[in-house]
Amino acid sequence: MTSFRNKVIYQIYPKSFQDSDGDGVGDLRGILERLDYLQELGVSYLWLTPVFSSPQNDNGYDVEDYCAIDPRFGTMADMEALIRESSQRGMGVMLDMVFNHTSTAHPWFQRALAGEKEYENYYIFKEGDSKHPPTNWQSKFGGTSWEYVPSLGKWYLHLFDVTQADLNWDNPKVREELKKVICFWKEKGIQGFRFDVVNLISKPAIFEDDLEGDGRRFYSDGPHVHEYIKELVRDTNIAEMVTVGEMSSTHLEDCIRYSTANPQERELSMCFSFHHLKVDYKNGDKWSLMEPDRRMLKKIFEDWQLGMEQGNGWNALFWCNHDQPRIISRLGNEGRFWKESAKMLAAAIHLMRGTPYIYQGEEIGMTNPHYQNISQYQDVESLNYYRILLEQGKTEAEAMSVLAARSRDNSRTPMQWSAEENGGFTKGTPWIEMADNYPEIYVEKQIADPDSVYSFYKKLIKLRKEKMVISEGRIVFLERDNPDILAYQRCYEEEKLVAFYNLTDAETTVLLEAPWMNYRKLLGNYEDSQQSGRELGLRPYEVVVLEK
Ligand code: GLC
Repeated sequence: MTSFRNKVIYQIYPKSFQDSDGDGVGDLRGILERLDYLQELGVSYLWLTPVFSSPQNDNGYDVEDYCAIDPRFGTMADMEALIRESSQRGMGVMLDMVFNHTSTAHPWFQRALAGEKEYENYYIFKEGDSKHPPTNWQSKFGGTSWEYVPSLGKWYLHLFDVTQADLNWDNPKVREELKKVICFWKEKGIQGFRFDVVNLISKPAIFEDDLEGDGRRFYSDGPHVHEYIKELVRDTNIAEMVTVGEMSSTHLEDCIRYSTANPQERELSMCFSFHHLKVDYKNGDKWSLMEPDRRMLKKIFEDWQLGMEQGNGWNALFWCNHDQPRIISRLGNEGRFWKESAKMLAAAIHLMRGTPYIYQGEEIGMTNPHYQNISQYQDVESLNYYRILLEQGKTEAEAMSVLAARSRDNSRTPMQWSAEENGGFTKGTPWIEMADNYPEIYVEKQIADPDSVYSFYKKLIKLRKEKMVISEGRIVFLERDNPDILAYQRCYEEEKLVAFYNLTDAETTVLLEAPWMNYRKLLGNYEDSQQSGRELGLRPYEVVVLEK
């Protein structure tokens, strides 16, 4: 059950990974073409964001049929081939289960709209007059989270886009339907699942206005969430598979329960939480820019690493995904220290306690694209917030600079494979514009270079497989009051390692404890080391890992 601890998971955003047929949209056959690359990198699982039949208003997170492949991505035969070919290369495929909501195009919702009471009860409909939504809760994509249906005289809840209607998990029939979906994919040979915003599935019994916030405190880690997840896992018999829940605005105590290693209480293998990726949100608001608060970043890592260790839970370790801007553009350096910062940030999470995720392109140090024009953005959230920011009185230039830092499209630009046109991603016109640094930052060049970001990631993946101290060791934090240096020690029986990360572009030093003086250097991102006596000098974004 804990076999995922020494593995690394690779996230594929199929739409932007590899296009095989020239329509500008990545597809399953494209992923098949790149399996050798992924095997060579050394990852154990491939998590694909949704490829199910969908109107694509939220790039597939609006599902119309959970058991059909959207023709844009290919066919069921392509999926079967992908599962088979991945398995032949020692990799399992994980699918993304979007169970908090369905697309409003889903037959269940359509039947609800047509007046079938049974299906109305699949969703969260509330009576009310057409002027006043049942509560003041806000959608995560901006605006009210309720939509009025005149023919029914009722509102339905959508925590995300208006075309993503929240399912009613209190209805046992809904839970049974979703279990069937899991079983369908298990039979196809899927090896694991990611559950989209799964901590939002249980809504409160009473719906009331949130006088302090946007409503999230009523439904995040909601009243029956643990019970419902346990039931789903038990009845579909997936306790031994790799499962990860995406937890929105979650709490440590809940994540311990979601990911406990205790077999009696089994829920999921691990959790994504996002607190460490909000350290550059001013007053917690994603759309207000602020320099990253490194002290806060360190504190969050400490709390979550130690808390999960003590509670016997398990973290998913990640910087990047399809909803997050690229980490180099955020905490690293896109210029002179691009390579150093990419490696330092990689090691910082890969050597922690948890299971690391690599989001496509992270392994070559891809950056945000710095779009200059609103027409370059595609994402529903970005376009909504652009409008909202203008309504709030921001100038177009200000709104554009917020999007350049915060848009989810920052991570959705096509994978940069080669220096060919469109980075080898497509022979057609990409559905979203490439980052214009693709002629410099691309896979082919880095594979050949032992000093590349790619080669460094490969080394990290290998180290995790080889060293129990990385996969199983306890963690202790060092340099706790120093906001510029992240440092920790890992211990497993006699094995020990100690790691220092300079989070800044300025030189600094740390003082080594006496026993570490005899440790040997396991990993670094500069050729030599600057150690004199007990003093270890750290250059911009330098990482030094010492091993007993
Ligand atoms: C998750 C997904 C995101 C999606 C949202 C609604 O946060 O990662 O891409 O928009 O859920 O399904």
